[in-house]
Amino acid sequence: MPTAISIRKVDGKPGQVYYPLEKITVPSPTPTENQVVIRLSAAALNHRDLFIRQHLYPGTTFGVPLCADGCGVVTATGSSQEAQKWRGKRVILNPGTGWKDAPEGPESPKGYAIMGGTKFNANGTLAETMVLEASELEEAPLHLNDVEAAALPLTGLTAWRAVFSKSGNAVAGRNILVTGIGGGVALMALMFASAAGCNVFVTSGSEEKLKRARELGAAGGANYKEEGWEKKLMEMLPKGRKMLDAIIDGAGGDIVDKGQRLLKVSSIFRATSPVFNQHLCGV
Ligand SMILES: NC(=O)c1ccc[n+]([C@@H]2O[C@H](COP(=O)([O-])OP(=O)(O)OC[C@H]3O[C@@H](n4cnc5c(N)ncnc54)[C@H](OP(=O)(O)O)[C@@H]3O)[C@@H](O)[C@H]2O)c1
Repeated sequence: MPTAISIRKVDGKPGQVYYPLEKITVPSPTPTENQVVIRLSAAALNHRDLFIRQHLYPGTTFGVPLCADGCGVVTATGSSQEAQKWRGKRVILNPGTGWKDAPEGPESPKGYAIMGGTKFNANGTLAETMVLEASELEEAPLHLNDVEAAALPLTGLTAWRAVFSKSGNAVAGRNILVTGIGGGVALMALMFASAAGCNVFVTSGSEEKLKRARELGAAGGANYKEEGWEKKLMEMLPKGRKMLDAIIDGAGGDIVDKGQRLLKVSSIFRATSPVFNQHLCGV
């Protein structure tokens, strides 16, 4: 039987407990018509995996393989043409089910069920093998090795959706603020928005992370731990475009209040709060 790694139950309250890891066996994979079997070579960690071990993530469950991101090779397939075309290919996986390509959000009424360690999805990538619908695969990018490719999907997809599908401002010359640049989604959003030619500004609680963000393409950054960080940030904006066009926020803190003063007021939505029209929570 193939093995996987999950969390093991021990006593403790959410936030105080840190569940140990446990090797478990999972059923031998048998794909149905449109499914494939993947032999995994790399799984990537995400902040949610740490939250799961602390029982701070919704639906935390014992006995479900951990991790949402992975890279591997398709070793067997179901009988359909769609499934068979993947045989032998090196792939990365859609890290959840229920959301394929609708720009406005998950198509499934049950929402987006991310893989790994919860009751909402039985799959997880910290496993020797897994079975998945062929429609949930992408070829692993050739320029990335297995470990690099495994780290791409969840933060990458979330940031892609925030920058390109939802912000409405992935346009050269626009001012985008990405908050909490130490976060995985924020780093991806910085790189995507920079590549689109936006002036990307960032916040962080760490000077070192601000410096690193500038090296990755940020036009400037402010430390959210400093009083009046938002004024400092506004001073960095280019002449002739002295407001932010969008905020991509996965950090929380005081950004929702302060965003009112930082964002360009939308002429379409002026009757309501511009923050909620243009402020984006992590997807
Ligand atoms: N990770 C994913 O793949 C994923 C997928 C879907 C949705 N999301 C959502 O996207 C958001 C970000 O997740 P993440 O995993 O990328 O990030 P994360 O690791 O949770 O980091 C968020 C960052 O927020 C900043 N921060 C923390 N406390 C703050 C405070 N009090 N005030 C201002 N900033 C603060 C920190 O930035 P500095 O370290 O720079 O100080 C921290 O690194 C979350 O809402 C998450 O639920 C994440």
